[in-house]
Parts: sequence; C-alpha cells; structure tokens
Amino acid sequence: MSVSHTGITEQVLAYRPPDPDNKEFEPPKDRALFADPSKKALLSAAKQVRHLTPYIGTELVGVQLSQLNDAQKDELALLVAERGVVFFRDQDITTEGQHELAKHYGIQNRDPNQQDPRHVTIIGRDNDVRAYADFTGEYHADDSHEVNPPAYTMLRMLKTPEYGGDTIWTSQTALFDKLSPTFQQLFEGLHGVHSSEVTFVNSINGGGQPLRPPVRRQHPLVRTHPVTNLKSLFYNPLFVVHIAELKGQESIHTLNFLREHLHSADDLSVRWKWEPGSVAYWDNRTVAHRALPGGYDTSQREGKRTAVFGEKPFYDPNSESLTQQIQRQGGDDVIVKSAEHVKLHFKKAE
Ligand code: SIN
Repeated sequence: MSVSHTGITEQVLAYRPPDPDNKEFEPPKDRALFADPSKKALLSAAKQVRHLTPYIGTELVGVQLSQLNDAQKDELALLVAERGVVFFRDQDITTEGQHELAKHYGIQNRDPNQQDPRHVTIIGRDNDVRAYADFTGEYHADDSHEVNPPAYTMLRMLKTPEYGGDTIWTSQTALFDKLSPTFQQLFEGLHGVHSSEVTFVNSINGGGQPLRPPVRRQHPLVRTHPVTNLKSLFYNPLFVVHIAELKGQESIHTLNFLREHLHSADDLSVRWKWEPGSVAYWDNRTVAHRALPGGYDTSQREGKRTAVFGEKPFYDPNSESLTQQIQRQGGDDVIVKSAEHVKLHFKKAE
C-alpha cells in the first residue's frame, strides 16, 4: 500500500461506504430530567461516594449497575450530567446487561467503524502519540462530527494490563468557565467544524470498512446542556479542524489556543486506572477524553462501549457558566465546594 502524506491512498479513493450519512432526529427526553434532584435512591445505595477531583469525576463504591432500578438509573444520568464522568469497579454486569442498560438512556449510537450495532469493542493501542499525524491518543468527544453526537457513553473493561492504558477525561464545562469574559463572549458566537475525514482515511488504510462517508459538520463552539443549563466548550482536537466564522490563520491560532487550554487542564481532569470489571459512564456532550497508548501489552486491554444519541448541540444565550450558576445559587466561587455544598438547579421533566 502506498501512503501519501495526506493518507489518500488508492484504497481510500476506491472505497464506497455502504450507508448514507445519519439524518438529524429528536432523541427521547433525557433521562436525567426524570430524576429526583437529591439523587437519594442512588447515592444511599452506595457504600461510599468519592468525588475524585473538584471539577470532574465521582466514584460510586458498592453499587452494582446490574441491580439499579429505574429511579436509580435516572439519578445516575443526573449524576453523570453533573460530574462529567462516574466510575464503578468490580461490576458483574454482562455485555447483554450493558446493552439493556443503554436502552434505558436512549437509542444506541452507531460509530462509523462499529461492527456490532450494539457496542464498540475498545482495544489496546501502542501508537506513538508524538508521531506525525497520529491522533490515536488525542482528546476527543466520541463521534462529535455526527448530527446527533452521543450523550451518555459507557465503557466497561473486560481485561486490562497491570499498568498502562489509563484514560483521562476533562470537563469542558470547567474549560469554558476558566476563560476570561472576553474569550467567553467571543467563543459563544462561533461554530467548530467537526470532520470525520481523518478517522475515515485511517480506518481504510488500517484495513477497516467505515459504514458511512466522511462528513464535515458545524456545531456551536459553546453548547448548552439541556439538563444542567450550563455552558461548556464543545471542542476537541481530533475532530475540530476549523472555526467556521474565522479566516485561515485566525482559525489555526484559535485552535492552537484551544488545544493548549485543553491539554494543560490537569486541574480540570480526572485520570482513571482501569481494572477488569471497571466501568466509566460519561457525558460525551461536556467532557473530552483520551486513552493513553503505549508501553503495555495491547492484547491485555479490551472493553465494550455503548453510547446513546444526544440532542443536536445547541447554544442558549440564557444558559449560564458554572461560576454564574454557583453565584446565583449563593455559593462562592471556590469550586472545590461545588461537589459537596452547592445545589445545582435542574429543569424538571414536564
Ligand atoms: C474511547 O475513545 O471512547 C475509548 C476510550 C479508551 O480506550 O479508554
């Protein structure tokens, strides 16, 4: 196979995907909107509720996903929406059980490279993340180029290496909140251009058969969460290739700033060490994540990822930044208190 510097090979040029692009649709109402805001049915079932960092990530100790009733499932959606990602260890749920659980939260998204319509099989990777055009370990929100990018996304690990293969999630709600008011205002009017071209090309060159053609699609650079009413960045360096309203160099430098803003946000991130039976459940609308490749036996990492379609990303000028919401609710702006002390307001289901 001859690979040009663009990755456009004869195989790529000859490839015809079997399915058309996805069409926009309205997904079922977000299950978090049905939850008791106190989440007491879920939280009281846990032996321990561990907030892993101030801004993102909570571990529920002693809860089996296989045993949740419908009220607890709805409260889990709300906790995921609030905390970005919720973790579990030692889960006994089966792959069938995971498929069933996903149905509670909506309609299963199908990644363009997904073989089984019910889940993606996640594997280990040994790529060099510093190599030219290697995006394997790059931050992304899964399938952000779709018209209805995934919302609630679950990854359950079947096997994991003794060390290596950790995953990092970063709060895009906090990333927006940390911008200066000037940058916040500027970004609120912009749209990111999300492209699946690189994953399409890499998939074919790697022997894959993507289901759908590559797409470029605009989404608001700042989106509103339909449950928390919070603003977050909707940026990721794997798929966002341009800012629609900007000229060439303006866009390049803005994207460089955004990438650095994200990659330097150790204070807004959580890093998770997997074990067999660990589960991460994240809100793909408001977090970006990256799996760290390299340095371990890749055959020892395997997981199953399920994800449901979210709403078409939207921006509501009446939504709030995290700091605005905390201040309106009488909290101070020491965010470390937000997880424990500040009650966020959520829209109730009608
Ligand atoms: C993913 O990108 O959804 C997979 C994350 C991982 O492999 O940890």
